[in-house]
Amino acid sequence: MQETTIIPVPEFTFVLHGANGDLAKRKIIPALAHLAQVGYFPNQSVIILAMREPMSPSDFLQQVAHFLMREGNAEAALALPALLPMLKTMVLNLGEANAQAILNAELKSMPMPIVHYAALPSAQFLPLIDLLPKGSTANHLRLVLEKPMGHDGYTCSQIESAIAAKFDESQIYRIDHYLGKQAVQNLLALRLGNLIFEPLLNRNHVAYVELSVLEDLGVEGRAGFYEQTGALRDMVQSHLLQLLAIVAMEPPISLDAEHLRDEKLKVLRALKVPTIEAFPDLILGQYGDGFHHGNPVPGYCAEPRVSPHSTTETFVAMRTEIQTWRWAGVPFLLRTGKRLNTRHSEIVIQFHDVPRPLFEPVLDSNTRLWQGNRLIIQLQPHDKLELQLLAKMPGERERLKPVSLDLDFFEAWRIPVRDAYERLLTDILRGRLGLFLRNDEVAAQWAFVDALRAQLNAESTSIPSAEKNQHPLHAYAAGSAGPEAAAVMAARYGANWN
Ligand code: BG6
Repeated sequence: MQETTIIPVPEFTFVLHGANGDLAKRKIIPALAHLAQVGYFPNQSVIILAMREPMSPSDFLQQVAHFLMREGNAEAALALPALLPMLKTMVLNLGEANAQAILNAELKSMPMPIVHYAALPSAQFLPLIDLLPKGSTANHLRLVLEKPMGHDGYTCSQIESAIAAKFDESQIYRIDHYLGKQAVQNLLALRLGNLIFEPLLNRNHVAYVELSVLEDLGVEGRAGFYEQTGALRDMVQSHLLQLLAIVAMEPPISLDAEHLRDEKLKVLRALKVPTIEAFPDLILGQYGDGFHHGNPVPGYCAEPRVSPHSTTETFVAMRTEIQTWRWAGVPFLLRTGKRLNTRHSEIVIQFHDVPRPLFEPVLDSNTRLWQGNRLIIQLQPHDKLELQLLAKMPGERERLKPVSLDLDFFEAWRIPVRDAYERLLTDILRGRLGLFLRNDEVAAQWAFVDALRAQLNAESTSIPSAEKNQHPLHAYAAGSAGPEAAAVMAARYGANWN
C-alpha cells in the first residue's frame, strides 16, 4: 500500500503533561510514536514526559506497551521504541512551590517552539497556565488543551481569562479530536468542494438530520473523570456539536482557521435548547448489566470507582434546531452512548420525498415505506459515503427499489488513514489552527449544555416529587441499541435512527 509523502515538521520541544493518564497512553503516545517511526520528527526534537513520580523513559515505554497490548493494539506497541531517542522524563507536581523553577530549568536551551500539551483534567489547567511564561509568541510557546474545557461555562471562562492574560489566541490549540478524523475532512470536502449537494442542504429539501456517535466501550479506567462529566459534557458538548456545526455552517470565504471558525460559531449560537419538561426532547440513559462481544459486563453503577447510586448519564439522545433562515424547523437529532451494541458514528441527511409519488409505493429491505433520499456520511468504523436513491426495477410494472451509491474512501485511495491525533499533532507542530476550536466556539457550546442542565436542575428541584421526579434516566442493557425512548423521540419527528 502506498504511503503519502512525509514532510517532516520543524524542530520542536514537546512537553506532555499528564503522561501517565489514560488519554496519553491510549492516544497521544501511540500517535507520537507512529509519527516518529515514519519520519515526521527531526532528530534534534525532544519529547518530555511530565510525571508525578520519577520513571525512566524506557520503563515508561514498557508500561505503555503493556497497556496497549492489553487493549489489543499490538501495532501501536511495536512503534513505541521509535520514540526512545528523543524521550526524556521529568517529575513535575503542578501547584507545588518549586514547580516553576523545575520546569524552567528543564526547558532551558531546549529547541523552540515549546509545545505544552495538557492531557490533564481541566481542573489542572489553571495551575499549569500559572507555571508558563507570559509575553511569548507562537514561535516560542504553544499550549494544547484537551476537551472538555472546564466543567461548565463558568469554569471554562475562568480558564479562558487565565489564557487571555498570558497568551495570544494564535498560541492556543483547543482539541476536539473529532476534527482530526479523516471523515470530518471528507465532509468539508464534500460540502465545499462539490456544488451538487450545497443547493439541497436547507429546510426546503432536508426533512431531518441525524448525528450519531455510538460506542461499544464502557467507561474503561476513566470512571473518576466520567462520574463528574457524563455524556452531555463529554460527548455532546464538543464532538456532536462540532459535527453539527460543520454539517450546517454556511460556506466560509476561505479555509483559513478564522473563517471556518466564524461560520461554525454562527451555527453554535443559533442552536435551540430542547425543551425537556413539557416536550421531552432530551432522553438520558445509563447502561445496566449486559454483554460486550459476547462477554458479560457490569452495569455502569457496578463499574470500579462509580457510585452504586450514580445518576450520571451514559447515553443522550436529543432534538435540537438551528434557528437560521437555512435550517429553521429542521430537526437535528443527536445521539451518543457508551456500551451500545456497536461502535458506529454517522451523519444522516434525510431529504423530503417527492411531493406527489407517481410510482407504486416502495418498501425498503426492512419492509418500511420508502422515506426519500438519504445521504449517509459514515465516520466510524470506516470512512464511507452512501447516497440512497430509488431505481426502476426490471419488469413491466412501474416499481421502484431503493439502491445505494457507495463510496468507501479507503477502497478509493488505498492509502492508510492517519489517526486523528497524528493529524492534529502535526498541525500543532506546523502551527496550523484550522482544526482547533476558538474560545468563542467553546463558550457557545457550553451555553447550550448549561441551558440544558439548568432545565434539568429546575426540573429536579422545583417540582414536588410524586408527580414529577427527576428527568427520567432510562436504563438500557450493555450491548443493546440504547433506550427505546430514544426511538420514540425520533419517531415524533418522522425519523428512525437509520
Ligand atoms: C473522547 C471521550 O473525547 O472521545 C471518550 O472523552 C470517548 O469518552 C472518545 O470514548 C471517543 O473517541 P473515538 O475517537 O474513539 O470515537
